[in-house]
Amino acid sequence: MTAVVYALPGNEPLAVCLATCPGATLGELTVRRFPDGEWYLRVDTPPQAGAVVLVCSLDQPNDKLIALYLLAKSLREMGARRVVLVAPYLGYLRQDRSFALGEVVSARHIAQLLSGFIDGLVTVDPHLHRIHALGDVYSVPSIAVSAAAAISAWVRTNIAAPLIIGPDAESAQWVSRVADGAHCPHVVLEKVRHGDRDVAVQVPDLAGWQGRTPILVDDIVSTGGTLMSAAKQLISNNMPAPVCIGVHGLFVADAYAALLSSGVSSIVTTNTVDHCSNGIDLHEEIRTAVETFIDRG
Ligand code: R5P
Repeated sequence: MTAVVYALPGNEPLAVCLATCPGATLGELTVRRFPDGEWYLRVDTPPQAGAVVLVCSLDQPNDKLIALYLLAKSLREMGARRVVLVAPYLGYLRQDRSFALGEVVSARHIAQLLSGFIDGLVTVDPHLHRIHALGDVYSVPSIAVSAAAAISAWVRTNIAAPLIIGPDAESAQWVSRVADGAHCPHVVLEKVRHGDRDVAVQVPDLAGWQGRTPILVDDIVSTGGTLMSAAKQLISNNMPAPVCIGVHGLFVADAYAALLSSGVSSIVTTNTVDHCSNGIDLHEEIRTAVETFIDRG
């Protein structure tokens, strides 16, 4: 099966990698804004009568969703048989239930919106907590690539005696996999969120882990509040400055600088969202998943 791979701005390196899948080629788009902020989009490489792959990480997702909708509809009109979205970071998954009367469950509605105009989805470590699988809210086939093996490999290469630490109960699922792959122990802390930027993390007795380097691993680093609070508690419990690893480094506003200056020893993220902290490459893992979709025709 053939596929044309199109990058939305900022996603070009991954698109170049995906275009090396058997049967795939790189397509060109023109993407710019009209003066009033609306999208101007032009497909410069026509799709073939096979699949198209749209590559667009969905951090800061609001505008990108509109561009993806317009491109998916137009590419189909131009002859594409299937539209596969590769969104290494899949936004709008954290509001996964109504915690207070009237709160909109955006995770479910955005999933339905996207499912209405794509035929397949490839992402990395989606934030699944109260929703247990992408298939519970997405009605199109999806593949969730795991970053755990790549993070474990980074830890094995860079840290002599690690202790993997998850900052909250939600992180237990990925820290246990990372620790297994890094052949080291792990612990999970307790977090209470009081607001968007206000979290309190509690650390259990870590006396038995003295001599190990703490590695905080979280899926999303947004305000950095979770990792800053966890790092502060670890340091005040006589642990060395922790290394912070995030799968998706969103780093809103000054979050990166604030986290760096909070006493952590270093910050490393995967390249699902382009950032200067990217140190763990997942492009080959994503490419393998995309090949599966292209093969399905
Ligand atoms: C929890 O919902 C997530 O796993 C992360 O812990 C959270 O998104 C981090 O957000 P922030 O950096 O704003 O504390």
